Amino acid sequence: MSGHGEPIPMISTACGPLTGTAEVPGDKSISHRSLILGAMCIGETTIEGLLEGQDVLDTARAMRAFGARVTDHGGGRWSVQGVGVGGFAEPDGVIDCGNSGTGVRLIMGSMATSPISATFTGDASLNGRPMARVTDPLALFGCQAVGRKGGRLPMTLVGAADPVPVRYVVPVPSAQVKSAVLLAGLNAPGKTVVIEAEATRDHTERMLAGFGAEITVEDSDAGRVITLTGQPELTAQHIEVPRDPSSAAFPVCAALIVPGSDVLVPGIGLNPTRAGLFTTLREMGADLTYENERIEGGEPVADLRARFSPDLKGIEVPPERAASMIDEYPVLSVVASYAQGQTVMRGVKELRVKESDRIDAMATGLRANGIEVEDGPDWWVVTGKGHGNVPGGALCASHLDHRIAMSFLILGMASQTPVRVDDGGPIATSFPIFEPLMRSLGAQVSRSV
Ligand code: S3P
Repeated sequence: MSGHGEPIPMISTACGPLTGTAEVPGDKSISHRSLILGAMCIGETTIEGLLEGQDVLDTARAMRAFGARVTDHGGGRWSVQGVGVGGFAEPDGVIDCGNSGTGVRLIMGSMATSPISATFTGDASLNGRPMARVTDPLALFGCQAVGRKGGRLPMTLVGAADPVPVRYVVPVPSAQVKSAVLLAGLNAPGKTVVIEAEATRDHTERMLAGFGAEITVEDSDAGRVITLTGQPELTAQHIEVPRDPSSAAFPVCAALIVPGSDVLVPGIGLNPTRAGLFTTLREMGADLTYENERIEGGEPVADLRARFSPDLKGIEVPPERAASMIDEYPVLSVVASYAQGQTVMRGVKELRVKESDRIDAMATGLRANGIEVEDGPDWWVVTGKGHGNVPGGALCASHLDHRIAMSFLILGMASQTPVRVDDGGPIATSFPIFEPLMRSLGAQVSRSV
C-alpha cells in the first residue's frame, strides 16, 4: 500500500551480548516470484514460509486484481489458483505496489504480453524510481507505457496484443529487469533470449524451470545467455520459501559487533548469487561459520553462526561481487564502521536507485554518527574506528527505506551513544518481526516517543 501512516521513530542503545536463535522470515525475492508464477500457471500452487511483509502482500493483492485466486491460510501458508500464461484479466482499479520495485517491475513484465491495460503506482519512494529500464525492453515485445517525466510511476502499460519474442542484453546488473523480460517472454511465441554481462540473482530462472518452462542458461564471453521458449503450460507447484539471506544479514552483523555475542541464524539460502555479504564478512575477519550445510529445494542452505569479532579489518570488496550482495551494502557499511581501516566499495552505482539513494543515505547518517565516509558516483569508502570507538548519537533519516532504518538500528547496538532513526515504519516491508526478534536476542531497540 502507498505510504504507511505516521512515522515510527525508533532508538537503539548499546546492549549486552546477543545470544540465541534468529529465525528470520522467508526470502522476499522468492516470495514475490511464488505468487506471480503461481498466478501464471494452471492449477493450485501451495506456498509455505511466504514472507508476509507489506511488499509481498501488495503483490498478492495485485495478483488477485489480475484474476488469480490468492488465499492466506495463516502461518505463512498460502495458495494461488493460477489463470495460466496469457490468462490475466484486466484489473478494475490501479495496481498499488507500495514500496516494492521488485513487485512493480516483475508484475509489469508478467502482464506486458497480454492484451490488457494496467495502471501502476506506489509510495513516494517507488514513484521516484526509474521504470524505463523495464518498459524499454517491454516495448520490444509490443507493450506501450505512458508514465510521468523520467519514466516514473504512476504509469499505464498497454500489453501487446500480438507479442513477438525478443533478444535483450540487460544494460545494468538487475535481476528485476532480467525477470521482467523473462516473464513477458512467457506469453510471446518463440524464443526470448536475455543476456546479462554480470550474473544477478537467478531465482526466476530456477523457478521457471521448476514450473515446467523450457529454459536454458549458458555461459558465454558476453555473459549468461538465458533462452526461454514462450507459451509453455506452467504447472502448479509446492514451494517452500527459504529464509532470506538479506534479512539474516541484520542479526549476523549485529552479533559480529556486539561484545560476547553468539547467534545462530538457521536455514539461510546460500545461493551464490545472493551470498556475497557472508564471503565479504569472512574476509574481514568475522567469526562467521556455516553449519549443517545442505541442499533444500535445489538451493544450498546452511545455519549461520555469528560470534562477536573484535578484530575486524576493512577490505576492498571486489566490484564483481556487487550483484550478489547489492542489498547488503548498507549493513556492511555499519560493520565497516566497527572495523580497523578502510572498507572500499566500488562498482555500486545501482545503490543510488534503490528504495533510497543508499550511498547518500548511509554516508550522511554515518558521518552524523562520527564515521568518516567518502563517496563518488559509483563508489564509497568507510574508514572504521575499531571496536568500542563508534560515537553514535545521531538521529538518522530512513528515507522510506527499510534497509537504511535497520542498518542504523544495528549501528546503535554497539555505539557509545544511542542511535535513532526518524521512521522505522518501512521495516515492515521486508522484515516485520525485526524489532521483537532482535529484542529476543538481547538488543535494546524500541519505538521512541
Ligand atoms: C531483486 C533484485 C534487486 C534487489 C531487490 C530484489 C529481485 O534489485 O535489490 O531487493 O528480487 O529481483 P535490482 O534488480 O534492481 O538490482
